[in-house]
Amino acid sequence: IKMRNSNKHIFLIGFMGTGKSAVSKELGKMMELDAIDTDALIADISGMSIPEIFENKGEDYFRALETNVLHRISDFQGSIVSCGGGIALKDENLEIMKRAGKIILLTASAETIYIRVKKDTQRPLLKNNLNVEYIEELMKKRQPAYDKAADIIIETDKKDILHICKEILMNL
Ligand code: S3P
Repeated sequence: IKMRNSNKHIFLIGFMGTGKSAVSKELGKMMELDAIDTDALIADISGMSIPEIFENKGEDYFRALETNVLHRISDFQGSIVSCGGGIALKDENLEIMKRAGKIILLTASAETIYIRVKKDTQRPLLKNNLNVEYIEELMKKRQPAYDKAADIIIETDKKDILHICKEILMNL
């Protein structure tokens, strides 16, 4: 039996600020594949920004949309998918991604992440807790889920986007 759409997507997962969006765009160019962003698709479909969804509908609603969008993406043609930082937390999402492609985990230290996200206002989970200690705490909590999901792990501290993309290509 030929599996439909087997192993054609590349899913970039990892904590907020690990560079998933920037890497997906660059990698998409290098591999001549579309770059898709789950947060952008969710915003398109719902007609609301991510902070608005969290505020008006709550996190559970957002998480349900994430799974919905992943299902849709798995039917698209091969692409680089930049995932919201919480996507690996749900087993159902892991199953969809494993079936549809390879999962690449981007990592960075809490200090690096803090520097990358400190000016950002689009991340509801960090809105009231924008400090290294909280980032560290949330990251620790999520680490087992990230590790379980990852086919490939790429460390991003002190590396530019191009360097990260090359490393991904070498490890695919
Ligand atoms: C989230 C990360 C965000 C976005 C939402 C929730 C998370 O995406 O999906 O704010 O739970 O880590 P980024 O990782 O692109 O910031």
